[in-house]
Amino acid sequence: MSSFIVLGAQWGDEGKGKMTDYLAEGADVVVRFQGGNNAGHTVVVGEKEYKLHLIPSGILYGDKLNVIGNGVVLDPKALFGEIDYLQGLGVEVTPKNLIVSDRAQVIMPYHKVLDALKEKARGKNDIGTTGKGIGPCYTDKAERSGIRVCDLINPTVFREKLEANIEAKNQYITKVLGGETLDFESIYQEYRELAERLRPYVEDISVRVYDLIKAGKKVLFEGAQGMLLDIDYGTYPYVTSSNTIAGGVCTGAGIGPTMINSAIGIAKAYTTRVGKGPFPTELDNKIGEWIRTKGHEYGVTTGRSRRCGWLDLVILKTSARVNGLTSFAVTKIDTLAGLEKIKVCVGYKFNGKVIEYFPASLEDLAACEPIYEEFDGWDDSVADARSYDELPENAKKYLKRIEEFTGVKIAIISVGPKRDQTMVVGDI
Ligand code: GDP
Ligand code: IMO
Ligand code: MG
Repeated sequence: MSSFIVLGAQWGDEGKGKMTDYLAEGADVVVRFQGGNNAGHTVVVGEKEYKLHLIPSGILYGDKLNVIGNGVVLDPKALFGEIDYLQGLGVEVTPKNLIVSDRAQVIMPYHKVLDALKEKARGKNDIGTTGKGIGPCYTDKAERSGIRVCDLINPTVFREKLEANIEAKNQYITKVLGGETLDFESIYQEYRELAERLRPYVEDISVRVYDLIKAGKKVLFEGAQGMLLDIDYGTYPYVTSSNTIAGGVCTGAGIGPTMINSAIGIAKAYTTRVGKGPFPTELDNKIGEWIRTKGHEYGVTTGRSRRCGWLDLVILKTSARVNGLTSFAVTKIDTLAGLEKIKVCVGYKFNGKVIEYFPASLEDLAACEPIYEEFDGWDDSVADARSYDELPENAKKYLKRIEEFTGVKIAIISVGPKRDQTMVVGDI
């Protein structure tokens, strides 16, 4: 494994932060390639808990290079807020261990305003975004009016692009969405200062990452969100605005597919989602509440309650396909401990047939009825297991079924949030 991808196999919050931190020990470089500070990745080291949104989860080691790729939408204020937060906790963050792509799109104040106003305008059809300006920033990227990091740090270009953007956005904000005018001069001044603070971190990251791979360094690409939040393969329109799947690495870090060796899908032992949209195995009942409480299923970025449901193997099989997964890391089997019976979805009944793929149309998805298999549960001793043999037999049966159904082997099992509550059981 010289360069490999760690990504979410479900709707996000699978434990990518924990697994990236764990796997980063054997890597030299950790790269974020999409998304922005809508992500919330938790890493627990000893007794300390770190919450990362924009900075790759390799930052806690000090000696790893962390890269924010061109596919990321970068909020400079959020970035420096996070750098200050980490430095406050004694974590070193300098241009030596963090670099930012000159091609990354910049989240500006109007993107956050637009995110909020558009959500309001959608009314009952709102997406339930994180409100960080992600969608509007990617909209400008595709519309070709975005401001990139290389533009932000060039005062003349920045002034020109900001002027044009503020004028257009103010029209739209005030006349269409009923919002307040934004002031050009104060935004210009504030972002000029941020630009100068950002300048030492800025680089052509594609060149750096390519050279490092060629030099034999190990590169870990850290995904944000998950397969079902992907703009193409997720539950559109209840998705984020980037390609969260493995294909996003190539465009989001400027690296060709032939330079990537493997892809690990992080799968929670059950399913969660934050925000709106369909969720076939959702448990809108006491069991769902029990899982939420035991698994502390509350958003890292927004604090919202996560919706909880049974493990859906149709999702994992779809994820294995669209990401070309070479292995799974299964997290939080300790959370399920204590349930007498645990269900797993192994197909959907749809139009009188059984299907094992995730349909594109939300109307078709709504008509899908999950088919369940039932497993006997296990007890809390699972959290103390440090090898496959120490796992309760019923947990082993559960894990075996995941492998059988998806055709992908499990390489890592996680039984708690800490680094040492992790066991490698197969090839990564
Ligand atoms: P991410 O967005 O994929 O990085 O995941 P989050 O950090 O949003 O949510 C995962 C939560 O589960 C975090 O609080 C982690 O500390 C925690 N976690 C990760 N793996 C495990 C595990 O195996 N067991 C338990 N109990 N918690 C875990
Ligand atoms: P991590 O990396 C879970 C969800 C939001 C919303 C939708 C669109 O921690 O797994 P956006 O602000 O991106 O336009 O919101 O996507 N969402 C996430 N859900 N985990 C995340 O990140 C998410 N990032 C965005 O809740 O439904
Ligand atoms: Mg998260």
